[in-house]
Amino acid sequence: MRKFIIGTLAAAGMAASTAALAAGGDQQITDVDWSWEGIFGSYDHAQLRRGFQVYREICGNCHSMNLIYYRNLQQIGLTEDQVKEVAAEKEVEDGPNDDGEMFMRPALPSDHFVAPFPNDQAARVANNGALPPDLSLMTKARLKGPDYVYSLMTGYQDPPEGVEVAEGMNYNVAFPGHQIAMAPQIFDEMVTYEDGTQATADQITKDVVAFLNWAAEPELEQRKSMGLKTMLFLIVLTAMFFALKRRIWAAVH
Ligand code: HEC
Repeated sequence: MRKFIIGTLAAAGMAASTAALAAGGDQQITDVDWSWEGIFGSYDHAQLRRGFQVYREICGNCHSMNLIYYRNLQQIGLTEDQVKEVAAEKEVEDGPNDDGEMFMRPALPSDHFVAPFPNDQAARVANNGALPPDLSLMTKARLKGPDYVYSLMTGYQDPPEGVEVAEGMNYNVAFPGHQIAMAPQIFDEMVTYEDGTQATADQITKDVVAFLNWAAEPELEQRKSMGLKTMLFLIVLTAMFFALKRRIWAAVH
């Protein structure tokens, strides 16, 4: 009898964990063609700037990007003055001053992106107990990162019949388990692009994902161009050695 109970419990436990795995496994991820994919792929800098605008106006209200400095924005084409302006919108604590006191000052290009909340607890309190994770390395931290983040932002749907969504949660087909504390964030025309690009929800999502991918992998372009140069060099070198070999062996034949 005892054996039977233990056996049943073990089987039930296994069934439950398989079900949990299955729930993670049926995430619906869309495969997007990103400009930086492939050997010759590179970032579209206008898109990165639009993506930064989306982060600044929307995501940055909840999510920090602690690993990025304001001065890094010059890499995507912001001028020095624009970077100063963007940084100065936020305040950071500095000090101590001559009186031994800490004080607030506008952020500088040499500062990290200022986080929206002073600490994790404050972030949780503002978000129903859920913590908005730092987005600096988000596209690296998740499987199929850019595709996943795109699918997550566009994956909100009405729950299927019979599925109970918990209080404060939202049904999302890309999120593991399908219930996420973040509400839908991106809607048509919610930002106005200066470069005239039409701000559909799809475009806004792609732009912000591109920006997040650049943040996580800013060296991608140098890496790719170095790879190409190396290949080119090796091809030339092989040709030269081949010519040399023929020359040397010509005398022998
Ligand atoms: C109102 C606050 C808020 C805003 C604005 C917001 N988020 Fe979130 N986000 C959250 C919270 C809270 C979570 C944690 C959800 C959870 O764990 O259930 C989250 C989680 C995430 C995750 C992690 C999902 C995972 O796999 O763990 C990503 C990626 C994300 N948000 C991207 C974005 C992007 C991109 C934007 C801007 C377009 C954005 N968020 C705007 C509150 C927000």
